[in-house]
Amino acid sequence: MLEINHLRHSYGSHEVLGGIDLKVDEGQLLCIVGPSGCGKSTLLRSIAGLLKPTQGEILINGVPVAGTPDNLAVVFQDYSRSLFPWMSVADNVALPLRRKGMSGARRRTSALEALEQVGLEGAAAKYPWQLSGGMQQRVAIARALAYRPAFMLMDEPFGSVDAQTREDLEDLVLQVRGVHGMTIVLITHDIDESVYVGDRVVVLSKAPSRIVGDLSVGLPYPRDQIATRQLPEFVRLRADVGRLVRGVPG
Ligand SMILES: Nc1ncnc2c1ncn2[C@@H]1O[C@H](COP(=O)(O)OP(=O)(O)O)[C@@H](O)[C@H]1O
Ligand SMILES: [Mg+2]
Repeated sequence: MLEINHLRHSYGSHEVLGGIDLKVDEGQLLCIVGPSGCGKSTLLRSIAGLLKPTQGEILINGVPVAGTPDNLAVVFQDYSRSLFPWMSVADNVALPLRRKGMSGARRRTSALEALEQVGLEGAAAKYPWQLSGGMQQRVAIARALAYRPAFMLMDEPFGSVDAQTREDLEDLVLQVRGVHGMTIVLITHDIDESVYVGDRVVVLSKAPSRIVGDLSVGLPYPRDQIATRQLPEFVRLRADVGRLVRGVPG
């Protein structure tokens, strides 16, 4: 579904992505983990068509990415800047659906359905600033879901919330992934999160970054914040990913 070939990106003379090759299958939940500043957001912006790579190509369903693909939704870390404060929660969620040419009534029904999927059916008439950070990020996820993308990209989506909320949002992603058979690429610097959420973890080195590890996560579903993290397989994967992120030989 997603294919990245020999992707390189430089900002001026600063090479950030040093040659990335990656294939992602339909329905996969891939976590990309790497140290801060290694080019994770650069990679995500390139996939989303927001940044033109210096070299290499990105294909979605065999078609080169040029501009933002219309079957793709992005969830950013900074929910406070991604929602419009003057619009109700339901209107925020419904907004991108205009691009699909849906009628006002259908946009509203889809928005309410998506809010229900993230457990926020009661907040439709509220404004984003009346909600906690975790709830605002749920709204951003609902907005992505309402769009029914084939492909959802998430850039450190839980980086700005407290630990408990973070766990709830991780479980939300696991719960919604099956809803529309979406392919999800979630970017994080959090090693534990990558193993807990992903069914595959790709590890990037420091910039100019390359893929230094590609692990498949065989942990059973449903995953559980306490039980899953105690499994020997979780502990082993976390150690392996940690060594790869730090560049320590195994
Ligand atoms: N628009 C830009 N212009 C110049 N340098 C940038 C720009 N965006 C990011 N960088 C630099 O590129 C490197 C990688 O950035 P980024 O992709 O945001 O990394 P990450 O998301 O992994 O933390 C950093 O050193 C950052 O300062
Ligand atoms: Mg980033």
